[in-house]
Amino acid sequence: MTNKNTIAAKLDVDVIRKDFPILKRKVNGQSLVYLDNAATSQTPQQVIDAIVDYYQNYNANIHRGVHSLSQEATDAYETAREKIRAHFNIGKRHEVIFTSGTTHAINLVASGFTHFLKEGDEILVSALEHHSNIVPWQMLCERTGAKLRVIPMTMNGELKMEEYHRLLSERTKLVFCNHVSNALGTINPIEGIIGAAHKVGAAVLIDGAQAAAHIKSDLQKLDVDFYTVSAHKMCGPTGVGILYGKEKWLNKLPPYQGGGEMIAEVTFEKTTYANLPHKFEAGTPNICGGIAFGAALDYMNTIGFEAISEYEDALVDYATEQLLAIDGLKIYGTAKHKTSVVSFNIEDIHPYDIGTILDKMGIAVRTGHHCAQPIMDFYQIPGTVRASFSFYNTMEEVDKLVEAVKKAKSMLL
Ligand code: ALA
Repeated sequence: MTNKNTIAAKLDVDVIRKDFPILKRKVNGQSLVYLDNAATSQTPQQVIDAIVDYYQNYNANIHRGVHSLSQEATDAYETAREKIRAHFNIGKRHEVIFTSGTTHAINLVASGFTHFLKEGDEILVSALEHHSNIVPWQMLCERTGAKLRVIPMTMNGELKMEEYHRLLSERTKLVFCNHVSNALGTINPIEGIIGAAHKVGAAVLIDGAQAAAHIKSDLQKLDVDFYTVSAHKMCGPTGVGILYGKEKWLNKLPPYQGGGEMIAEVTFEKTTYANLPHKFEAGTPNICGGIAFGAALDYMNTIGFEAISEYEDALVDYATEQLLAIDGLKIYGTAKHKTSVVSFNIEDIHPYDIGTILDKMGIAVRTGHHCAQPIMDFYQIPGTVRASFSFYNTMEEVDKLVEAVKKAKSMLL
């Protein structure tokens, strides 16, 4: 039995919850129990304040004006880039490319590799991927004639590493894998994946969208070629994220979009491109979003990722234990190393029906395929009910979830 009180005591969750205004609201007449953090996390007042401060006091376009507002906005945006660099221990500030999120970042890399792949080359992708880490590579294969091969998974929701090693060859040019599966919560062994790929000369992109809110990664130590993050999964706003790329790759890849800010010189005969990071940041970016992303990292680092991870693991363990006590309930994704997600079904009740009843009780979960249809096909199910946790959730909320699931079961069976 999880010692829930000991672990909860390490994090002052009651104080933390006061930072999140939305957690006070009622949904369908009930206190909100927000357990859809894998879809998007909630926003603390400190980040809301940073957004309001920007629009109230120094809203201006960046890197363009000599006027004071523009310089203040530019400084704040570049300070946020530096905070992101430091948080992920990235070597150089210009290796942090602001994007609209992980999907944009992956598409940027996939588009760039069109120039480097040919028929006969192979791309390995894990069976645990989100659609955003499958479809761009399929499109890349269509453009180049390269072949997409899949690293298979076990019933526990873990990658078959021996199969991965068997699939790797001198034909492998790229390997793609998420750090944490959004549908099952599996933490993939990315150190081993990266090391083995590099031995055959393949580049590796790790989708960190689901991991970054729970695990603080040292990207230089990981020696990963590309890593992607979305701010909205880690207390920041939607519409902003980053692509980390090793300088050597970012120099090699062509620009993704043409436009203002990404050029050195433009004539009608020829255009030359700006240096990193601007080469990949065409157009006016999400300035406020970038600044707020920096504020979100400040906020989470003040709480501390070690305490966050330990507490969230305790929430997952407790939820798993309590949910499994419900007759007929099956959990999908029982990997040894997992974080923040409990995905389940009860007998053949459709997940949507359970989700609808939970919503009536004020409990927000995601239902469906979680943008990971191949995983659902593997288990031969239409989808799951997914409860996903954050450091501001409580053990009492887990109890409410469990009671609500029992009630839903009794109504639907
Ligand atoms: N990728 C997000 C999720 O898992 C949207 O729900």
